[in-house]
Parts: sequence; structure tokens; C-alpha cells
Amino acid sequence: MKVDFVAADTAPKDTTALAVLAFEDGEYSPAAEALDKQMSGALKRAVGSSRFKGSAGQTVSILAPSGTPAGRVIVVGAGKQSAFDAKGAEDAGAHAYNAAKNSGAESLLLMMPPAGPERQAHAALGIRLASYRFDKYRTTEKPEKKPSVKSVSIAVADVKAAGKAYKSLSTLADAITYARDLVSEPANILYPEEYARRVKKLESLGLTVEVLGVKEMKKLGMGALLGVGQGSVRDSQLVVMQWKGAKDPGAAPIAFVGKGVCFDTGGISLKPPEGMEEMITDMGGSAAVAGAMYALAARKAKVNAVGILGLVENMPDGNAQRPGDIVTTMSGQTVEVINTDAEGRLVLADAVWYCQDRFKPRFMVDLATLTGAIVVALGKDLAGLYCNDEKLAENLLAASKASDEVLWRMPLPAQYNKHLEAHSADMKNIGPRYGGSITAALFIQKFTNKVPWAHLDIASTAWKPNSSVATIPSGATGFGVRLLDQLAADFYEG
Ligand code: BES
Ligand code: MN
Ligand code: ZN
Repeated sequence: MKVDFVAADTAPKDTTALAVLAFEDGEYSPAAEALDKQMSGALKRAVGSSRFKGSAGQTVSILAPSGTPAGRVIVVGAGKQSAFDAKGAEDAGAHAYNAAKNSGAESLLLMMPPAGPERQAHAALGIRLASYRFDKYRTTEKPEKKPSVKSVSIAVADVKAAGKAYKSLSTLADAITYARDLVSEPANILYPEEYARRVKKLESLGLTVEVLGVKEMKKLGMGALLGVGQGSVRDSQLVVMQWKGAKDPGAAPIAFVGKGVCFDTGGISLKPPEGMEEMITDMGGSAAVAGAMYALAARKAKVNAVGILGLVENMPDGNAQRPGDIVTTMSGQTVEVINTDAEGRLVLADAVWYCQDRFKPRFMVDLATLTGAIVVALGKDLAGLYCNDEKLAENLLAASKASDEVLWRMPLPAQYNKHLEAHSADMKNIGPRYGGSITAALFIQKFTNKVPWAHLDIASTAWKPNSSVATIPSGATGFGVRLLDQLAADFYEG
């Protein structure tokens, strides 16, 4: 949904939902005060006869108010006025949209003066994120099932200033939308080659995108990644994205690596059918990386960055890899594949090694929907952070706080490396059931060559069966895009 800024004196139509902000302790925004007067006090009366206390997320809808040309008025709670910041504005925008979206109103006009351009821009971002919908495959949907709101405007005092503040947030919204779309696409449409083609198109943003096929990866010795993909009729791909925004184009880059399993059946260690369809999201880590690279390029971030996507499909087949197979990774280390469903770490083993070997990055962050165990450990709102470098961990946790994409630090206990000791190879690809997310991280660590590295297990956060946050509708979250963009912006640019 596109969001426009319009002059504050714009008059709503009778098909419009007019949204105004109110705060805790009986405080109202100037627009709400003015509207209440226009409505002869009906706004405050409606609020007074409801449970509305101005808390963030509360809304009151008033139908066909006399004295205003709007079809309805929505009073949006925005918390304590003294604490109303960019994040508060973002949530308020999202709540205003969510309250209007199925109301029958065709347009939404959110009154945002006298908040400054930054908060106005964040309100627009909140609306963009809340209004995400993956509906390209719905051909018979009845109009009354679709959101009624077709356009959104934010009324501000200074249209130009708001537009300027919104510029980089608008491209961030584009990048998150891009990632959500990739995650939402089913695996018959988005297989590795198609995925690589789509990412290649991002060259229009100024990125360079290389695509390595099976032949090139064989040459590099990527036996672990290729072993995962060998049971699929779809060829595996390694996508290498580069953004050179630093003054010195030769400066060491920051690097992101993503697990891109376009579909994870488990392979010969086949998953049970219940819920297997969710495994279209098993490329969520790579989508976050592609989205973050999109964001950096679109706002011309002053940093050199590399994004690597390991794209495969994990299928059972006559040619699929078997439990007990031993593969040789690009690093030279060998792996006994005990369980073909522990495939993400095999993909990352080669992608991470390749990343440090070729780019000598300042650090690497890998993102992966890696284990069910992280969901057991942390629930659905937090992603696991594993890190071998205190400064990088500190920066990631700060970026996590600022972007509201929550990471929780997890341990990398060396004594658990014993769980990965194999019968006939350098390591095996699974440990015992308990601590499953930890042994997965320890496995990847063996391919980092001691470069500063973090691993984000986002199996918990890449997909939401139900919406629990105003800015994230159910389905693909785009988790990681904003976090990585924030990390670059706050610590590695300039
Ligand atoms: N893609 C899955 C992990 C996953 C689970 C992602 C739930 C999203 C939601 C991963 O490849 C996997 O199958 N992991 C196994 C590892 C096990 C075989 C050691 C798991 O978590 O059960
Ligand atoms: Mn798996
Ligand atoms: Zn997987």
C-alpha cells in the first residue's frame, strides 16, 4: 500500500476513515481536539463511554459523525504523549490502518501534525508494514473479503519535510516487502534458479549479483551444499551479491550469509506430512539477506557489503543423499550425514567458508531457519543469537533493540563439540536431541575459520501463523532485514 503525505487542511470524503491520535492521561492530539469541537464534543463522549484509555493499540471507531465529512472517525491510542517517539508513531500508523482496513472505508486519512517529520515518516512505515498482503494467487476472492481501504494519506504540516524523512524508510519497507514476498512464494514457483533470476534483477539498484551453478560449485569443492541439492531436479545455486558504498571500494566488507532451502522435505530422513507446507519458508534466512542488501543499495549506504545465498531444494529421490553418506566440504573437512533433514548447516558450511575465503570480511552474520529446537527454547517472538566475538554480539544486540527484531544470546559451549564427533569422518551433522540449536551453531562455527561471526537461528521468527504485532500481519515476517540494515547504519558506515 502506497502512503502519501498531504497538507493538513485536506478535507476527507465521506468514504474516508479519519484517524486522530489520543494519549494516556486524557491527552489528545491537536487534530483530535479540533475534530471533537467540529463534532460538538461527540469524539470525547464516545471515548468516555468506552474502555479507551489512550494505551498503544487501543482504538475507538465513531460512525458517520455529524460535523465532519468523514464516514467514520477512528481515535487511535498512542500511549504516553511524553514518550511518543518514532516507534510509537510507527505502531500508531499500523493500528490506525488495522482498525480501518476492513471497516468499509475506502481511504484512510491519518492526522499527524504537529508530530515532526521523523514520526510522520515512521507512521507511514508502520502503515506500509501493516498493510502487507500476499494475494497474487487469489483469483476468486470476493471484494468484501479484501481490505476495503485502497489508499492511505497522512496529513502533515510540511509535506516536503515528511517526504524527505520517509525516503529511506520507504525503501526499507520495499526491502522488507521484497523479503516477505520471497518467503511467501511456494516452492513450485520459487526454486533455486528462479530465485537467483529474481535476485539478479536487483542489479538495477546498483548491486552486482553473481550466480554460481552446480558446475562452478563442484569446482570449488562444495560437497556439503551440493549433497543437499542432489536429490532435487532443480539445480542448486549460490548467489553472491555485492554492494560497494564505502569511500574505498577495496575496503573489507561486512558479510551476510543466508540459508536458502527453497523447500525442505527432510530428504531421505523425510519429515512427517503435518505442517510440512511451512517448509516453503526454509529460505527465510536468505530472503533476509537479499532484503538487507536491497535496503543498503536502495538507500546508498556508505559501506561495502556482501550477501551470499545458498539456494537448494532438499528432496527424497533415487539420487538423494543417504544417511551415512560422507561429504567433503569446501574447507576440506569431511561430514558424515547422519540425518538428511539437518541440511541447513550443510548448506551454510560451504557458503560461510566461501564467504570468508573469498572476501576476508570484517565479520559474517549468517541467518537460517535452522532448528525446531530454537522454537522450543525461545518461543515464536525471539531469534537465537550465537556469536564468537563480543563486540559483534554487542552491536547486534543494540541493533536488535533499535529495530525491535528481538535476538536472545545463546551459548557456544566448546564441551558440546564432542556431540559432533563422528564414526568415520571429521564430524557428523547432528548431535543429540537436547540442545539441538546449540549443536547446529557449533557445527557452523567449524566453517568460520575464526573470523568474527554470528549465527541467527530464525526458525522461530521467519513465519507467524497469527499476527501478534501490529506491523506484522500473519505469514512471512521479513525478520532480519531491518536488523541487518540497522546494524550497518549504526556501526559500520562512513
Ligand atoms: N528447516 C528445518 C528447521 C525448521 C523447523 C524451520 C521449524 C522452521 C520451522 C531444519 O532443516 C530441520 O529440519 N531441522 C531439524 C534438525 C534435526 C534433524 C537435527 C529439526 O529441527 O528437527
Ligand atoms: Mn531440515
Ligand atoms: Zn531446513
